[in-house]
Amino acid sequence: MIFTTISPDGFPNAAPMGLHNKDGRLFVRIYNSKTLENIMKKPITAANIVDDPVLFVQSALSDVEPERFEFMKDFPVLKDASGWILFNCKCKKGKTISVVELSPIKGKINTRKLKPVNRGFNAVIEASIHATRYVVFREQKYLEHIEYYNSIVKKCGGAREKEAMGLLYELIGHKK
Ligand SMILES: Cc1cc2nc3c(=O)[nH]c(=O)nc-3n(C[C@H](O)[C@H](O)[C@H](O)COP(=O)(O)O)c2cc1C
Repeated sequence: MIFTTISPDGFPNAAPMGLHNKDGRLFVRIYNSKTLENIMKKPITAANIVDDPVLFVQSALSDVEPERFEFMKDFPVLKDASGWILFNCKCKKGKTISVVELSPIKGKINTRKLKPVNRGFNAVIEASIHATRYVVFREQKYLEHIEYYNSIVKKCGGAREKEAMGLLYELIGHKK
């Protein structure tokens, strides 16, 4: 999912995060990041359900333009989300990783379109995770993983998945 948050001065932020369900309680584990900073200051987040691979890459490695958000009341969600859930956050701060418990406030379904499983889309998500590690550690092994997933995108992905991989390479500083 892509989590949206807001800074104290009103700037929206978006980043992919994994939602964990532990016996019915919902958590997100967050490394030090803009998302964590924002949640520490205003303990609300929206988990946006998104199926656009470009938006995953962009929000993982860069900033999402302000016009891609819409505000419901005064909180940002993504215009292109199929739906979202708004949560109150209770944060247990750690040195490198913090555990945030999420309590749902409300949600919205924007579209119920059918999305068949696609290896290309899944490969973009995997490549994005390795890319977020590569930009921090600059280790060759992450590049190799990205190359592998790119080969799947080339074989199984559609135009949007290929565009997402092009953006990913650009944002990690490896023009393809
Ligand atoms: C699919 C996916 C899942 C991710 N899940 C998490 C997560 O659960 N926790 C986390 O701290 N980072 C996660 N990341 C990495 C963050 O999205 C990444 O570090 C991002 O740059 C943080 O952005 P921010 O500084 O704007 O918050 C994930 C990345 C991807 C692509």
